Amino acid sequence: MKHLLSVADLTRESATELLDEADRFEQALLGREVKKLPTLRGRTVMTVFFENSTRTRVSFEVAGKWMSADVINVSASSSSVSKGESLRDTAMTLRAAGADALIVRHPASGAAHQIAAWTAGQGEGSSFGRSAGSTSGGPAVINAGDGTHEHPTQALLDALTLRQRLGGIEGKRIGIVGDILHSRVARSNAILLSTLGAEVVLIAPPTLLPIGASTWPVRVSHTIDAELPSLDAVLMLRVQAERMNGGFFPSPKEYSITYGLSQKRMDLLPEHAVVLHPGPMLRGMEIASSVADSPRTAVLQQVTNGVHVRMAVLFRLLVGSDGGES
Ligand code: CP
Repeated sequence: MKHLLSVADLTRESATELLDEADRFEQALLGREVKKLPTLRGRTVMTVFFENSTRTRVSFEVAGKWMSADVINVSASSSSVSKGESLRDTAMTLRAAGADALIVRHPASGAAHQIAAWTAGQGEGSSFGRSAGSTSGGPAVINAGDGTHEHPTQALLDALTLRQRLGGIEGKRIGIVGDILHSRVARSNAILLSTLGAEVVLIAPPTLLPIGASTWPVRVSHTIDAELPSLDAVLMLRVQAERMNGGFFPSPKEYSITYGLSQKRMDLLPEHAVVLHPGPMLRGMEIASSVADSPRTAVLQQVTNGVHVRMAVLFRLLVGSDGGES
């Protein structure tokens, strides 16, 4: 595996291997006062974020540092992007500066794929001459969220959390609720959870479903209360007002009444069912505070798993599956 751009590139076997690897990293660090493994010593990992982030950026940085990589954070606001430098020139500059891995978040769908294509090979056509990067064929590129397209490591950490909470994913019925239209988390989860054998139900108003949702490996429902009693897990999504150009239908109040996970709605779930949310949560809008803070909700477990999953992904891309100290 050279890059992680889409969960559609993962088979059930390769996804399961990544989840197993994440578990191994958790075990390797368990009880250690000093969380430092030598796995990526001498490797340079760059996070390149053109959109805001707390969880993804921080957990990639922690993952890299816990594996002894040199981690450099680049944000659009503090880089020469703010002076008008193009995405291509930025990517080629980071490659020439020695990146072994580029972890990319960008508002445009397909941006990570494009960067992987530009930075592949020996840098022909680059205006920056010979690359100083140590990874032959260009850096590994990890999609940390591209527009409304995909967020592969979020889906992997959600799958790991579901596996831990439910004992497995095969045959489980998982509802993804809310703003599917603008959600890269929804798409990546629908694909990955189906690949892992789950039955996925998208639950949303018609206005917040993408036109092509009927081609996804899922069932679609518009009625959350009818679905909750038969779900093993429910993944609540953030309503992404920043991608709606000021328009929002149904209104926030209507949305909250019709699709928000209130305490009363959570009580419709089976006893064993778990609640996930990728964060950031809009409390009182898509999820009630009492639900967000309930022990049945796995939000902070998702964050912790995010570090281990991102360690596994960096390890697989930069070291491979056949060795390296961990
Ligand atoms: N879940 C997620 O991607 O959160 P951040 O935007 O904080 O990274």
